[in-house]
This record gives sequence, structure tokens and C-alpha cells, in this order.
Amino acid sequence: MRLTTRLLSSVARKRPFYVTTPIFYVNAAPHLGHLYTALVADAVQRFEKLTNPDCNIIFSTGTDEHGTKIQQAAAKANLSPSTYCDKISQEYINLFRDFNINYTDFIRTTEDRHKKAVTHFWKELVKRDYIYKAKYSGWYSVNDEAFVPETHLREDIVDGEKVKVSIESGHSVEWTEETNYMFRLSAFKTHLQDWLKTDGVVTPSRFQKQLLDYLDKETYFPDISVSRPSSRVHWAIRVPGDDDQSIYVWLDALINYLSVIGYPDEEVMRRSGRPWPADVQVVGKDILKFHGIYWPAFLMAAGQFPARRLLAHAHWTVDGTKMSKSVGNVVAPALAGAPPPALRYVLLREATMVSDANFSETKLINIANSELADTLGNLAARCSAPALHAQGTGHVSAPGLARCRAEDMAGKLMDAVERLPDLCHVHYSNYRFYKAADAVIHVLHLANLFFETQKPWELKKKNAQEELDTVLYITTETLRICGIILQPLIPDLATQLLDKLQVPKDSRNWQHCETPSWKIGEVLTKIQPGKFVLFQRIYTDKKKKVQV
Ligand code: ME8
Ligand code: MG
Repeated sequence: MRLTTRLLSSVARKRPFYVTTPIFYVNAAPHLGHLYTALVADAVQRFEKLTNPDCNIIFSTGTDEHGTKIQQAAAKANLSPSTYCDKISQEYINLFRDFNINYTDFIRTTEDRHKKAVTHFWKELVKRDYIYKAKYSGWYSVNDEAFVPETHLREDIVDGEKVKVSIESGHSVEWTEETNYMFRLSAFKTHLQDWLKTDGVVTPSRFQKQLLDYLDKETYFPDISVSRPSSRVHWAIRVPGDDDQSIYVWLDALINYLSVIGYPDEEVMRRSGRPWPADVQVVGKDILKFHGIYWPAFLMAAGQFPARRLLAHAHWTVDGTKMSKSVGNVVAPALAGAPPPALRYVLLREATMVSDANFSETKLINIANSELADTLGNLAARCSAPALHAQGTGHVSAPGLARCRAEDMAGKLMDAVERLPDLCHVHYSNYRFYKAADAVIHVLHLANLFFETQKPWELKKKNAQEELDTVLYITTETLRICGIILQPLIPDLATQLLDKLQVPKDSRNWQHCETPSWKIGEVLTKIQPGKFVLFQRIYTDKKKKVQV
């Protein structure tokens, strides 16, 4: 029995964990919204690695570079489409580097490996008779790169002129009549409903319900156009065998998730442990329909499984309006008002995924200062204060632990520390990063309070070494556990903290935080004594002036 379990787990371990972000349009520079999605995916894969260190991670992101929208943006920038794409794609790469987004693969839809995958996928759809040619007319939104049904349009006045706009996105549409290749989406309604009913396949459940409602209510579930005349859309992949037609950018873009893992090369996919279907596909709610309806239908039609899980999140807004390139209210990550580790923390700590989150620089700075500087950083600085440590050592042991635990404040803190890992495990597993952060900060507040009431500086003066050791021990052990737990959210700061605590690199996995050392009778931690500023408080100009 035991052998079988071990065997199974080793087989299971060989399968990589595959997480994706959408590939982002290169029609403008990245903003906080794009960064947020990448951070969510990064935190997901870091948590996976933390709890399952032997697992091979595939984490893909990239840029979506074809279509009218990009053609127009390149023309506006007075650059050739390919030079233009190189430039913006590089901006994404730089951004992800600055924020320690640990992707394993960056895919661009203009790459040959991707074109090969798209061409093969298309031929597969044709072979299985899911594609046919037809005259098509309808309202097209260039901004959404999608046809919008009449029932999803409203009239609007723009510059004194009546225009039709999509109710969902607010983008204007234009009447288009052309010969297109069509995809038999209508054949998949029931299959999609069955798939969407699977528990947890789309999370949070609010978005699963939205997709099911969409299918339930929509009595008209037509086939969709999957090509455009090349004369209109020349910056695109051609339909195999028909140079007059370009492949619809969304079909092109979605296939990136397969190109990354070497599709259609069976040998490459086998060697990497058959990563498809992806474990988690992270998307914003704006592209839920593309990932929750079109993509699974395309996959089923091509004889592939849909993803194991779609993780959708709500939007970042500014004054209540979605932060978006087309609205023009975007916040560039470099200008958000805080350095990368703080911005990373606050974005993950503030958004709930289910509801929109409003961005404000003041809030960003306040949270970073109070939680990273005054709570986490403060405790770390206090624990390592040279004045509290015996000359040259930095060892902290606690023979007086049992006595101390009986005290109200210490007991409360120690109980909370013991409960913290399980609590955070549940929050991380449910992608509730804000709750995990909240739980850690709560424990750190207790620890700061404990430290303050114990007055270790007085214990030192009184030469009460045993009590001093106990206080330092409990607080450093709290920091060690919090440091391990915080790694998916703030990898850089957590690493600095764990280095300071001299936690060996191979002792930073989830299993190492599950039990505080006082429960296993090992009452020794190390902290490097010396001034330690984990996170420098942010002063805005206004505050600086007040201080002077
Ligand atoms: O849709 N708040 O690319 P895109 C949170 N190329 N997340 C936001 C956001 C906001 N205000 N704004 C954007 C595309 N995002 C396609 C995808 S995938 C095969 C093709 C994030 O550049 C969010 O993840 O418009 C959203 O879904 C994505 O950026 C859209 O990026
Ligand atoms: Mg968009």
C-alpha cells in the first residue's frame, strides 16, 4: 500500500505544473493591470514550488502581436509593425524582470514556433470539419478584435455623431461584410455547459456562474468567424492554403498556450512531461469569454482537453473606472509611487479577485509603510538590534520558554504562530492572497506588541539573560515562519529576511514553516546581529516638508 502511494506520487511529480498569463497586446506600454495578472500567476507558481519543491514549473507569459489594432498602433508610432512589436515586447520583459516575475517562457506570436503551432492547429480543425467558408456580415470592434452581436450594442454620441458601441466594453464597432472562414462554435454548447459545471474549473465561482449564465441565456449561439481578409488585416498569420485570408487574432493568440510547450511536436511534449492541459490559466475578467467559451471549444474541436482551471480576476480601477489603455487612465508601474517590492505586495494584498480594486497612490504608500516598514521591518530590526545580543554571537536560545508561554501575551502569540501556516495554506490554495497577507500581518502585530511589553532592552540592562533570550527566540522564530510564508508575495524581501535569520537555502520550503521549532523542542535560532533595514519607509514630498 505504502509502496503504491509512493510510486503514484513519483509519477504525479513528473508531470510539470503549468501556469499561464494572457499574452498582452503590444498596442501600448504595460500598466498596473497587466503587472497584476503576472504577479498573481507568479505567486501561484511560487506557492506551488514552495509546497511541492520537486515539481517542475512551466510558467508562460508573452505578447500578442498580430492584428489591426497593432497595425494601427505601429503606424501611429511611425514604425514598422515588427520594430514596433520588438519595442513594446521588450518593455514587458523589462517590467517582469523588475518585479521578479519568474516566468520560464516568454512567447511572442510573431515567432516561428508559434506560427507553426497555429498552422497545425488550424489544419486540425479543418481535418475534423469544424471550419467552413461563408459570407459574413456583422459589427466588428477593432479594439476588442471581435464581432459583436446586435443585441450587445447600444447607441452613443461621439463628437456629435451617432455611433454604435459594444455594451460590454464601450468600444465602437464598424459594419463589416466579408467572406470568412467560420468555426462551428454552435456544436459545442452542451459540451461547454458540461465542462463548465465541473467544480472549480473556473474560479472564483462568480465567474463560473457568469459563463454558465451566458450559455443558458443565449438562445442564439452562432458559429464565429475565425479569419479576416488579408487585404484588411495583413499583419497576421495566413490561413494555410489561402493567402487571401488571415487567421483571426484571438484564435492565433489563444494557441500560444500550446506553442510554449512545443505543440504540435509530440516528442517535445512527451519529454517535458505532457504539460497540457495547463493547471492554471490566469486571466482578467475582460477576456473571460475568450478563455471560458472560445478556447475550450477550439481545444475540444482540435481533440485536446480544456485547461484544468481558469483563474479569473476583477479589475484595477482608477476613480472607479477600469484602468485601460483605451480610456487613457493607466498607471505605469514605474510611476506608481513605490519601489517594486512594495507595489508587488500591495497589489497582491489589496485585490480580492472577485471585486474591482481601486488604485490610489496614498493607499499604496500607507500600506507599504505600515505593513512592510512598521510591522515586518520593524520587528526584524528590533530582533537584530546589536545592543540586545551577546558580543559577537547572535544565537538566541530560550531555556525559559515554558514559563514565558504561560503568560497571556506570549501564549496568544505562540498559539497564533502555530495556527498560521495551515491558515495561510488554505488562503493560498484558494488564491486569496489578501487573506494570507492579512493573517501574517496580524501575527506580526501580536509579535511587535509582545516585544514591546517585554521591554528586552530593560532585560538586557538588568542582565536577565534567560528572559531576554526567550523574547528574542519567540520573535525570531515568528519572523522565520512569516518569512517562509511570505515568499510567494514578496520573494525579494522574504529572501533578505531569511538570509538575515541565517535560514539555510534548503530549509525554506513550506514544510519548514509548518511547525514552530518550540514544538519540536529545538530552541535555537540564529540572527545576524547588526543594523537591518528591510524596507525603507516611503516619504512623499509633502510628508518630507512636514518633517523638516
Ligand atoms: O486582452 N485590471 O491583451 P491586453 C486588472 N492580447 N487586470 C488588467 C487590467 C486592469 N485594469 N487591464 C488589463 C488581451 N489587465 C489579449 C489576450 S490571451 C490569449 C490574449 C490584464 O493587453 C488582465 O489580465 O488587453 C487582462 O485580461 C489582460 O491584462 C488584457 O491584456
Ligand atoms: Mg484589453
